[in-house]
Amino acid sequence: MVILLGASGYVGQAYARYLSAENIAFAGVSRRDVDYGRVDVLADFLGAARAEFVINAAGYTGKPNVDACEAHRAECLRGNAVLPGVVREACARVRVPWGHVSSGCIFSGTRPDGSGFRETDAPNFSFRKNLCSFYSGAKALGEEVLGYGEAVDATVDGAEAGGGARWVFREGEPEGFIWRLRIPFENVESPRNYLAKLMCYKLLLDAENSLSQLHEFVRATVECWRRRAPFGIYNVTNPGRVTTREVVDLIVRSGVCPKEYVFFKDEAEFMHLAAKTPRSNCVLDTSKLRHAGIAMTEVHDALAQALRHWVRA
Ligand SMILES: NC(=O)c1ccc[n+]([C@@H]2O[C@H](COP(=O)([O-])OP(=O)(O)OC[C@H]3O[C@@H](n4cnc5c(N)ncnc54)[C@H](OP(=O)(O)O)[C@@H]3O)[C@@H](O)[C@H]2O)c1
Repeated sequence: MVILLGASGYVGQAYARYLSAENIAFAGVSRRDVDYGRVDVLADFLGAARAEFVINAAGYTGKPNVDACEAHRAECLRGNAVLPGVVREACARVRVPWGHVSSGCIFSGTRPDGSGFRETDAPNFSFRKNLCSFYSGAKALGEEVLGYGEAVDATVDGAEAGGGARWVFREGEPEGFIWRLRIPFENVESPRNYLAKLMCYKLLLDAENSLSQLHEFVRATVECWRRRAPFGIYNVTNPGRVTTREVVDLIVRSGVCPKEYVFFKDEAEFMHLAAKTPRSNCVLDTSKLRHAGIAMTEVHDALAQALRHWVRA
């Protein structure tokens, strides 16, 4: 039996649909039923349920957007930095492997050579770097609490050659996955879907990003467990990179929402007019997932497919 924490959320619901469709026995768990923020309670529950695998799709995202994390810092830390450690400890007590839905928003930009960040790169949009949103800082802390990787600061000269600052290192074999989700989109209109957000916003910020087709993300992460991929960190985004203007072009060409899309002049204007905290825009490298034998659709193709099969709310 798979235990799904945060089953009531946007990502958790996508997991519940996929696990049902695949006939994988699972129990969706809400804090209302099981106080899974407490190690003892969660470990007892996992033992009694004879859990085979745990998916942590729970976390604090801030509503209506990440700006809310600046006002609700304790909740943001509890959901994103403390909870992953609680789940890890409970899973370790009952010796159950698990996977944690993290975020690519702990990075900004690209590596110095223009390539995407790898799983061995230390987050550069984090409290340690003194530049981030509170949400991103908390997500990076959550990964650091788990210590499932040995990360090197890619922005330090010589990092490519194996030098650079050691970020975190935990001895012993990891017992779980960290799956980095990044700006989820899908073919179903919803206020949480990136494509639907772009169609609604009055002004857009042009930026280059990696993105995750939500259902492909869910399938790929469950595949990590089914195929017994090595534990550790995985960037789970569609291969390639895309700018906001390219996404808008695809929306217009698809006929789903053909209107005039207006852009902020630059990031400074965006910060001045629309945001309380800086946003992460970044490119992630996906070769580790591919080498594990798990394929995802190229990002432009995945966007075009979602728009071709668009379902209005
Ligand atoms: N959506 C995105 O754009 C995105 C992108 C990258 C990463 N992620 C990550 O993916 C995970 C799921 O995100 P989501 O979009 O599905 O979030 P969501 O819709 O807000 O759902 C998250 C769920 O987590 C549970 N939860 C546990 N502790 C919480 C806390 N302290 N505060 C708030 N909720 C808490 C809640 O379920 P119960 O109360 O029912 O247990 C809630 O329904 C999060 O870790 C998020 O950081 C999301």
